[in-house]
Amino acid sequence: MRPHRVPRLLLVLAIATTAACDGIQSALVPAGRDAERIARLFGVMTLGAAIVWIAVVAVAVYAVRRRRERHSHREVNYLVVGGGVALPTVVLGALLLYGLPVLPAVLAPAPDGALRVHITGKQWWWRVQYVTSAGVVETANELRLPVGQRIELQLSSPDVIHSFWVPSIAGKMDMIPGRVTRLALEPTRTGVFRGACAEYCGASHAWMAFVVVVTEPGAFAAWLGAQGRPAQPATDTVAARGEAAFLAHGCSACHTIRGSPAGGQIGPDLTHVGSRLYLAAGTLPNDPEAFATWIGQTERIKPGAHMPAFRTLSGNDLAALAAYLDNLR
Ligand code: CUA
Repeated sequence: MRPHRVPRLLLVLAIATTAACDGIQSALVPAGRDAERIARLFGVMTLGAAIVWIAVVAVAVYAVRRRRERHSHREVNYLVVGGGVALPTVVLGALLLYGLPVLPAVLAPAPDGALRVHITGKQWWWRVQYVTSAGVVETANELRLPVGQRIELQLSSPDVIHSFWVPSIAGKMDMIPGRVTRLALEPTRTGVFRGACAEYCGASHAWMAFVVVVTEPGAFAAWLGAQGRPAQPATDTVAARGEAAFLAHGCSACHTIRGSPAGGQIGPDLTHVGSRLYLAAGTLPNDPEAFATWIGQTERIKPGAHMPAFRTLSGNDLAALAAYLDNLR
């Protein structure tokens, strides 16, 4: 590479790297109390690392530039004790003292009476169950939270280890078969954020995402109330044909649509699937075309998914099924 190209390349890389720090899945642009603590810790750790790096480079430059001659014992002692013992002890000790209290703070539980949500990691999607006074309200792959409240998440998995992580809002927590782990979240601003599974869990680990929608408490309460209601019945003939196809082709063996005969427990609850932002755990945008793509080409979209692709559906049935599911708002 020609020498004058190097600074330009560095500039492009620097811009690309900084741009990557922004967005809906960045731990460096916090939108939660715990993410703020973690981002601050990251800043201080980076500063500490920079001090150590500058000291090491300074000593290296000194060693290269200095004329070859005997050092006095005193100079040698200063270098070894100062650079090898005192500096690391002071810098690392200060970082340790600063960092230690952060851990209990980000693991602090939610107060008694806080909103509780069970989240189960599946291969490769998320079952989300809100525990309310009126019962459990189930949804999937989308977590809605009220801003400014500390919320308790209870995390579990039936088979393999997953890890629940919304970098913008909090730290990550493993979901371990046979036990329930807890993570408290406290969103500090409204918006849409992206979460992902942070532990390799099988073929489609990279397609196991979700969104977190943080709203004002009033909007959240209205949303939760709506999610608790049964599905709205099919309103036109196309959707009615789609509902019939859903029941005839065995979709109801795995999926629940409250208010219809579908009561399967294996796959995501689809009662209000049309109201979600994404399909297939953050993989596809939510529209009728994506429904048809997902149902007809499941294996291509998400390798290893437990849902088989329904290639036997006629084009008309597939379109009607997509319209029916899209209608479930
Ligand atoms: Cu679930 Cu990786």
